[in-house]
Amino acid sequence: MQKSNFDEISLRDFFDIDGCDIMQRAKKFSEHLNHVKEIKHHYYKRVSTTGSSPIMTVCDRYSGLKKEMIYLASNDYLNLTRHPRTIAAGVKALEKYGTGAGSVPLLGGTFDIHIELEKKIAKFKSCDNAILYTSGYNANCGSLLALLGEKDIAILDKLVHASIIDGCKNTNVKFFKHNNLKSLEQILERSKKQYRTKIIIVDGVYSMDGDISPLDKIVELAKIYGAYVMVDEAHATGVIGKNGKGSLEHFGLEGKVDIVSGTFSKGMGCVGGFVAANEELIELLYFYSRSYMFSTAPTPQVVGSLIESLNVIESEPELLRNLWQNINYFKENLLRLGFNIGNSETAIFPIIIGDDYKTQEACKLLHERGIYVNLVLYPAVQMRASRLRLSLMSTHTKEHLDKVLEALEEIGKKLDLV
Ligand SMILES: Cc1ncc(COP(=O)(O)O)c(C=O)c1O
Repeated sequence: MQKSNFDEISLRDFFDIDGCDIMQRAKKFSEHLNHVKEIKHHYYKRVSTTGSSPIMTVCDRYSGLKKEMIYLASNDYLNLTRHPRTIAAGVKALEKYGTGAGSVPLLGGTFDIHIELEKKIAKFKSCDNAILYTSGYNANCGSLLALLGEKDIAILDKLVHASIIDGCKNTNVKFFKHNNLKSLEQILERSKKQYRTKIIIVDGVYSMDGDISPLDKIVELAKIYGAYVMVDEAHATGVIGKNGKGSLEHFGLEGKVDIVSGTFSKGMGCVGGFVAANEELIELLYFYSRSYMFSTAPTPQVVGSLIESLNVIESEPELLRNLWQNINYFKENLLRLGFNIGNSETAIFPIIIGDDYKTQEACKLLHERGIYVNLVLYPAVQMRASRLRLSLMSTHTKEHLDKVLEALEEIGKKLDLV
């Protein structure tokens, strides 16, 4: 494994290059990317010709050939992207309502199925009502920009998703150490009287670590200090809680969290996002959230599939059971092999390596063995926290997982990861 100075460079070096305008900056970045491609370390935007499922056909960038790979790089935890019922419901809505909503939701773009989904997702999250967005990013960013201003404070876990951070750009922000209640309490104590609205915002399950937020304790602290709580359920929905309803069900906090946001793109297998809360707050968002007001409503096909996704989660508990069987089996074996998987507790498994070059090399070796995992470098994680990110589906079989474990064992030894 030959490393050059080029290999020490990361995306961080191209945010702002002294004296370079946008085109010069793009040229420099392109030179870097060409080097990454030359050493076969470019594993982003791999192209699939079949879609999300445990085995996926992928066009190999380097050989130009199509190959079948075991796919552990999705957030499609219950594989609802391929469920016959979600597909049929999408087709039915497509045929009835057409390919698009035709307008923004406040004007002509609200159909009866949008209202049905709003009510259904609100109930699923034990809230009064919900607002739909075209992505989870828009849901977090658009709602927070509408709610928080310069007299308020957002107190964020250090590892919350970028969409939350971006949504807080008009307000005061303080970060507490990841999942650390002491650190949170110190900030709450210091912020006691200074702000109009105090809101603690966390992810229910963290996207790059797979660990669970201690939401029960956070809600207790919020009560003591007069703060609101918002939780992003992106990776919790369809994964944790007895019936896959997410963090509130997992901790028995139904009705006790002020704002619940999430995406429809992961455990629910489609695209889009939502914010659920009390009736008044949702009404406020309808009129003040710009990514809702000024953006066309979700397509009927997506909405039809999503209503059915919720029905499937409720009526086919074996999907969740299979997912957890896979999680327990995979975790036990990764630990047995000696990988550093941090505090992973859900369907997301980081293999934390730290060195960018080695992480890229590991991704390449897995790719060559027909195993598709995510390469995660800065800025998706902090510098020197680079990792492979493997995520499981309920439809992976033991045979798939054994093949992955076998390859990991070999590569782990080769690269000194274990
Ligand atoms: C925690 C979290 N929140 C929000 C999002 C954004 O969701 P979407 O992909 O629907 O925009 C993601 C991932 O994409 C995420 O991981």
